[in-house]
Amino acid sequence: MKPIALTGIKPTGLPHIGNYLGMYRPALDLMEKYQGMYFVADYHALTTMHDPDTLGELVYAVAASWLALGLDPEDAIFFRQSDIPEIPEFTWILSCFTSKGLLNRAHAYKAAVDENLAANHDPDEGINAGLYNYPVLMSADILLYGSDVVPVGLDQKQHIEITRDIAEAFNRTYGNILKVPEGVIQKSVMKVPGIDGRKMSKSYDNTIPIFAPENKLRKRVMRIVTDSKRPEDPKDPENNTLFTLLQFFASPKRLAEIRDLYLHGGAAYGALKKELAELILEHFASARERYATLMADKTFIDKVLQDGAEKARQMGKPYLEAARKATGID
Ligand code: ADP
Ligand code: TRP
Repeated sequence: MKPIALTGIKPTGLPHIGNYLGMYRPALDLMEKYQGMYFVADYHALTTMHDPDTLGELVYAVAASWLALGLDPEDAIFFRQSDIPEIPEFTWILSCFTSKGLLNRAHAYKAAVDENLAANHDPDEGINAGLYNYPVLMSADILLYGSDVVPVGLDQKQHIEITRDIAEAFNRTYGNILKVPEGVIQKSVMKVPGIDGRKMSKSYDNTIPIFAPENKLRKRVMRIVTDSKRPEDPKDPENNTLFTLLQFFASPKRLAEIRDLYLHGGAAYGALKKELAELILEHFASARERYATLMADKTFIDKVLQDGAEKARQMGKPYLEAARKATGID
């Protein structure tokens, strides 16, 4: 049996090119050497998404994205988090080995508290316990199957560290039962910028969605924020969102030309945005076709996820049993 690579994505919006470069592609590339276990993290989405129809639809969109981008369900174990009843059970056990201080310091929770404090509100106003416990749920996802590596973008680094801390705390008490995983974070695509220059994220409404209708995708690219320099002005390619995004899709030869235009004048933002939109559409042309076909056949997606959940549960059972036994609640 190959070592396990595991990762998940929340169905909180349409997958975007930051997800693709930071997670989907590295995760799929790992399949040569690893057994992939990839899933739709709908329990995590529930911390913020309280509209059932939207959540249901986005589970399909995210699942179809995995398949369209090349996940082969015969090869990877592909499932939906909420189909694994062992996950909430394991989350509870792990939460008893998680220091509260660790969760107080988790970035997402801290950011929500800081926002409240800045607005002179109660520090915990509007923050549900699911958001607070989010890192424990994520550690259950990872530790339940004895995952070896976890491919993620830079924003998830702290969650991997928390997972390692939790596994080590459990093992200190009961012996070497849980596998302590490693994060796999690709340096070149750790943090893909969104159209406003911040990290591209479903929560900022600044994404370029991979599977949006063509005109919508083009519009998003045209909205990339640029400065007011004229085409003939020299520009710094290093701190330029448009150039950063072009780097991911233009050929090395064309990129060198564009870089030259930036440095010496001649780079027109409008034309370059049009070029980027074409490059993205070209890059994802066949994936976009597959996505449309998949979204028209949701029973197929359901079936694939069901089959995957059965396999995942089989993988997880021995770890949960060992953990229960160790604690004495067996
Ligand atoms: P979002 O921030 O858009 O809600 P998720 O939190 O669901 O995305 O992230 C799914 C995966 O994609 C994670 O591994 C995350 O690190 C990665 N990812 C998300 N945004 C980016 C980005 N802008 N650059 C690189 N990786 C990203
Ligand atoms: N928290 C991750 C994110 O926001 C999604 C996720 C849930 C995940 N469970 C996971 C990622 C387990 C890796 C492993 O992107």
